Amino acid sequence: MNPLNQDQNLEVLLQENRRFLPPSSFQKSANLHDFEIYEKAANDPETFWAGWARKLDWMQPWKKVLEWKPPHAKWFVDGKINASVNCVDRHVFQDAGPNAKRNKAAIIWEGEPGDTRTLTYFDLYREVNQFANVLRKLGVKKGDRVAIYMPLVPELMVACLGCARIGAVHSVVFGGFSAEALRDRIQDAEAKVLITADFGWRRGQKISLKKMADQALAETPTIQHVIVVERERGHSTLHNEGHFKEGRDHWWHELMAQSPAYAEPEETDAEDMLFILYTSGTTGKPKGIVHTTGGYLTGVYATTQWVFDLKDQDVYWCTADIGWITGHSYVIYGPLSNGATVFIYEGAPDYPDKDRFWKLIEKYGVSVFYTAPTAIRTFMKWGVDWTKRADLSSLRLLGSVGEPINPEAWMWYHEHIGGKRCPVVDTWWQTETGSIMITPLPGITTTKPGSATVAFPGISAEVLNEKGERVENGGGYVAITKPWPSMLRTLYKDDARYVKTYWSKWGKDIYFAGDGARRDDDGYFWFMGRVDDVMNVAGHRIGTMEVESAIVDHPSVAESAVVGKNHEIKGQAIIAFVTLKEGFTPSEDLVKEIKNHVVKKIGSLARPEDILFSADLPKTRSGKIMRRLLRDIAEGKALGDTTTLADPAVIQRLKAQYEESEGG
Ligand code: PRX
Repeated sequence: MNPLNQDQNLEVLLQENRRFLPPSSFQKSANLHDFEIYEKAANDPETFWAGWARKLDWMQPWKKVLEWKPPHAKWFVDGKINASVNCVDRHVFQDAGPNAKRNKAAIIWEGEPGDTRTLTYFDLYREVNQFANVLRKLGVKKGDRVAIYMPLVPELMVACLGCARIGAVHSVVFGGFSAEALRDRIQDAEAKVLITADFGWRRGQKISLKKMADQALAETPTIQHVIVVERERGHSTLHNEGHFKEGRDHWWHELMAQSPAYAEPEETDAEDMLFILYTSGTTGKPKGIVHTTGGYLTGVYATTQWVFDLKDQDVYWCTADIGWITGHSYVIYGPLSNGATVFIYEGAPDYPDKDRFWKLIEKYGVSVFYTAPTAIRTFMKWGVDWTKRADLSSLRLLGSVGEPINPEAWMWYHEHIGGKRCPVVDTWWQTETGSIMITPLPGITTTKPGSATVAFPGISAEVLNEKGERVENGGGYVAITKPWPSMLRTLYKDDARYVKTYWSKWGKDIYFAGDGARRDDDGYFWFMGRVDDVMNVAGHRIGTMEVESAIVDHPSVAESAVVGKNHEIKGQAIIAFVTLKEGFTPSEDLVKEIKNHVVKKIGSLARPEDILFSADLPKTRSGKIMRRLLRDIAEGKALGDTTTLADPAVIQRLKAQYEESEGG
């Protein structure tokens, strides 16, 4: 465990005394005005959450709000609820009348080449039903796992909701992951069906997902059927290239064309699994985070309504890919359960030009925009001129997620994108928490650039020290001290790891988030990054051990230690220290080869920025690699305490060598 980097954050706190009150025009029409909500919710969180749950459509009411046998929670015990019904049907039917959403746009999509599609709630309803029937016809039953590996197209949302309709469990694997990463996730989940596409567009290039998937499929015996979306109808080359296996592979549009228009929704239990989403931890093996139905939906529904202040006329755009939790909670389930209009865009922000996002905001009149600090810092680097090429006056609220946002990026976002009139909500949460945990509420919270402010009502968040004592004003570890509806329930097929990772630091009833934070005089949270061996590279969560296992898999490598180095744009960049086997010599070619090997094993998101060869790695006497020292070296900082090193000379040598390679 890395000690908290307190000095760095103290610096931020000392500098940062800007305050932003919610603009009065915004405040007047905000969904939430009630300052007392925090106290009310804190006094009785179960009643608070039950109030939200009651706003959803249940097939059978629950008998008990919470059953908490630490660290296992059941919310809305014995309640029956279907997520697809809540995201689609009820907007088409139940809310009929003057406010009916039947013909309202549910999804507005633009592909990277500029092709577009709009699905009304009724269109979405029809497609989800048909797709649910497709899955049933292929033999998918309640509880079966379905893997999804797709570009950001509307069919991806239809696929997830189709699974939810029949009680199947989706496991979405980000399209940027490699074939091997896809294979591992399919194998762990023992998925029966894979849904993919022939390709997707990214920066003008075709990303051939089906071809990658075929490599994975060579080693996934549980997969019985593969459903393939044809990205450009009538143009696929898969058949000619031998990438379409008759009997196993099916075209999405052909199955849909034969599929009946209505599928009876499954009466899923509140605690039935809705999805598994794999995320990185401190070992080489990704964790299958398990989310269930009733509590998860309650959490995302409530937070979407209050954090984004969603209104019926909003056009809401969250730029996350659906392969990440942000896409699950705030592209699909949160906004659709609220009946919002969701905009999605397939491609890169700089294609064909660096003003693509701003042009999209203008073209579709986007009013709520939610993105990551990495993206914001990239836009800053590109310069404000690009932002001026489009009319951004439709925006009324901005959000940030995925990593700490530095005050300068926050200010830039506020000024140049939000025109100084839009509240900025910096939202802290995790794959594990399911929904937003620490965040401003835009109509009531005074924000401070760089702070995620305070816990959402009904959430008990604290900063604790090593011993589990509350830190009132200072730094420590982020903890959640009461269960919440959208919390993960376990790790798929590994409950022991669930207990050990999250509920063992201070006891079985306190959740250890793995983040460091400092609280200021107002009790505001200032996040300082991970305190475990998890990196956050461009908002993507990657385990140091995962990258290390990929590197040592290369035939030339004996040992490797990976650290995240502070990076101006990406937040962190991956630096690998590598010891070669006898008979191999360091070279530029080998650097390239090892980097490519990591891309092949995990995906390009894990490509190391730098590889440094070393005859030895610094270790403690018990043989543990001293990552903190390596990080200091990578960042060119002065060395810390090296007295616990087995061979302190090693570290000095590494430092000198690194500085030399940096040209410093
Ligand atoms: O370190 C925190 C950081 O991202 C981690 C969770 O990553 P993931 O599960 O991939 O989910 C990302 C999207 C919710 C956290 O442990 N993180 C996320 N949001 C913030 C953040 N750090 C600081 N400020 C945030 N707003």
